[in-house]
Amino acid sequence: MTIINSIDVNEWIKNKLRHNEERYLHSLGAQEAAKKLAAEFGADVEKASIAALIHDNAKCYKYEELLKVIEENNFPVEEVIKNNRKVVHAFVGACLAQKELGIQDEDIINAIMYHTTGRINMSLLEKVVYLADKIEMKTRPPEQINKITNVLEETKNMDKAMLISFDMTIKSLIDRKLSISIKTIEIWNDLITKS
Ligand SMILES: [Fe+2]
Ligand SMILES: [Fe+2]
Repeated sequence: MTIINSIDVNEWIKNKLRHNEERYLHSLGAQEAAKKLAAEFGADVEKASIAALIHDNAKCYKYEELLKVIEENNFPVEEVIKNNRKVVHAFVGACLAQKELGIQDEDIINAIMYHTTGRINMSLLEKVVYLADKIEMKTRPPEQINKITNVLEETKNMDKAMLISFDMTIKSLIDRKLSISIKTIEIWNDLITKS
């Protein structure tokens, strides 16, 4: 059981995702994966566990509700992010983690905030949560998991695993005719240049 500021985080996330059993399972899977990754790559296991468990806490909100949370809390979110329906839940999730759970740790907040788009110069914790979201074993397709974990096992390099993950994400966004966040393009350019 994880208690933050007298709130049982497990119950909190269960309630947030009560209308979507699969999303809750996904969150538990991400928590498990994040703990393993954190232990392997030297990130803070406790922070990784919390951030991954609650990364999708706003995923069940309707688009209008997401915008309302941002407005009501005066949470700073760029216009381009607000307009992206697929991405905005991550920023609202960070806002709610701050507001409802009272989480002040910037690294945890950023890990939640950038779990969808990524961004350049991600911290170790941000990378752990980003990858855990993609390789959790409870709901993600094995083919996707294997592509990323194979690279991780072979290279022991998170950036290389991130690159293969962004490769899949960007291709899928193009196939589905969805917009690509500028933050995703920036980290793609950064990783591909360094690889
Ligand atoms: Fe998400
Ligand atoms: Fe997720």
